[in-house]
Amino acid sequence: MTGIILLSVLVIVLVMLIVMTYYLRTVQKNHDKDDEHIECFKNDAKKEHIIGSQNFVYTSIVLISVSIVIAIYFLVKGTTWEGHLMEWLNIVIRLMHITFGIAWIGASLFCVWENALNRTKDVREELAGNLWAIHGGGCHHLEKYKVAPKTIPKHLHWFKYEAYFTWLSGFCLLFVVYYFNAKAMLVDKNVLDISPLIGIGIGIGSFIAAWIIYDLICKTPLVKKGIWFTLIGFIIAVGFAYFYSHVFNSRAAYMHFGAMLGSIMAANVFFVIIPAQKAMVKAAKTGQPLNPQLGKNAGLRSLHNNYFTLPVLFVMVSNHFPSTFGYEYSWLILAVISLGVAGVKHYLNLKEKGQLTVWVMPVSILVLLAAAFISAPQKPGACNTEVSFKEVNDIIQQRCVSCHSSKPTDDVNTAPPNGIMYDTPEDIVKLTDKIMQRVVVTKTMPQNNKTNMTQKERDLIRCWIEQGASLK
Ligand code: HEC
Repeated sequence: MTGIILLSVLVIVLVMLIVMTYYLRTVQKNHDKDDEHIECFKNDAKKEHIIGSQNFVYTSIVLISVSIVIAIYFLVKGTTWEGHLMEWLNIVIRLMHITFGIAWIGASLFCVWENALNRTKDVREELAGNLWAIHGGGCHHLEKYKVAPKTIPKHLHWFKYEAYFTWLSGFCLLFVVYYFNAKAMLVDKNVLDISPLIGIGIGIGSFIAAWIIYDLICKTPLVKKGIWFTLIGFIIAVGFAYFYSHVFNSRAAYMHFGAMLGSIMAANVFFVIIPAQKAMVKAAKTGQPLNPQLGKNAGLRSLHNNYFTLPVLFVMVSNHFPSTFGYEYSWLILAVISLGVAGVKHYLNLKEKGQLTVWVMPVSILVLLAAAFISAPQKPGACNTEVSFKEVNDIIQQRCVSCHSSKPTDDVNTAPPNGIMYDTPEDIVKLTDKIMQRVVVTKTMPQNNKTNMTQKERDLIRCWIEQGASLK
């Protein structure tokens, strides 16, 4: 039955796509025909109309796809396909998120690549500098203006959708990974016993609160005092890290910290940088004097974003490293690593400006090494007796297979998480290094310690692995 419904949904989607492609092609054909008669740029109104209808078609495709996904979700909810659907949603949205993120960060790194600009040779008065570059099979000549050219060109590319779409896709990903499955992925009863819905509320509310606090501080005179602003900003950020790690499970806490900084970055683009640029362009077009404060403000927010970049990127990859979020004081590691990578960024920024401040880089690296040092596992106790496989297997059957089995009995994980199953002795033996990492070193498994594993059991598993993990 479900198969038939899924098949019909697929057929509907295909038919719709074919109809839309046909529609687009006729629009394109008309457009080509027009171009033969009329010179390209005189035809702007027509062009805008065509782009408008393309946007319309694409928006419809997106809306239709989203409704189909929601329909499929309710169809497969509670069946074995639910996990599969979520995984694919995760893949698609994650790819989008990474791609938009690369475009955003790439553009901003490129646009602040001041050091590479030629500022002296044949540079016109109105320019800050220019750059010859070769990439993608062609030479590019780029000119950076001190502020703006005398007449603003008609076709001016705005770097903004990269930021908005990174944020939007990130927000969707937060839902797919953490909020749809909040009971398992967001809330940890051993940290704080809250309902999933309250957890989600706190998560989203914290982003808004963070932006309000940050924006308010940016409007005080403090913003001009570089070092104090940095210090107070850092303390507040650590406060957020501390808060998250005492409300959510550690992995979700990290991701919320990253999402919080990412939201501030996107809000900076939306509420400050783009409006300031719009005002600048408007002033240039109407010949009014420029308010230099606007540009300065936008520049400052850009600079803040620049420092947030590496901490956010760290959080985004931290998911792969349970030794970071799995550490007892996970917020401390988060704070130290954020400080270290922001320090590296600071060094790079100084270098771009031509200021060589040698100490910044080694100190940042020392800070990062300190994080590795603090979170190193403690010296394990001695293993006095030989541990048999039977003992280990009993523990794993009791504490792990409710999730990690071909047929999980867990209420949330209906498919074996990450494909890890412990149904047979071989399944257990082949992945002992991962078991060591997750169960003994970082203690991030069982997830949220849902099955109440004891320290004694962890020690037994460690001894068994250290003694060679034999099946005897
Ligand atoms: C309540 C469900 C649940 C229980 C119980 C559980 N796990 Fe997990 N496990 C998960 C989830 C969800 C993931 C994937 C997310 C993650 O890596 O944190 C996972 C991931 C893992 C991974 C990482 C796999 C990879 O590809 O890196 C290992 C190893 C693991 N679990 C081992 C164990 C062991 C050993 C136990 C028992 C001591 C256990 N788990 C108990 C839910 C559970």
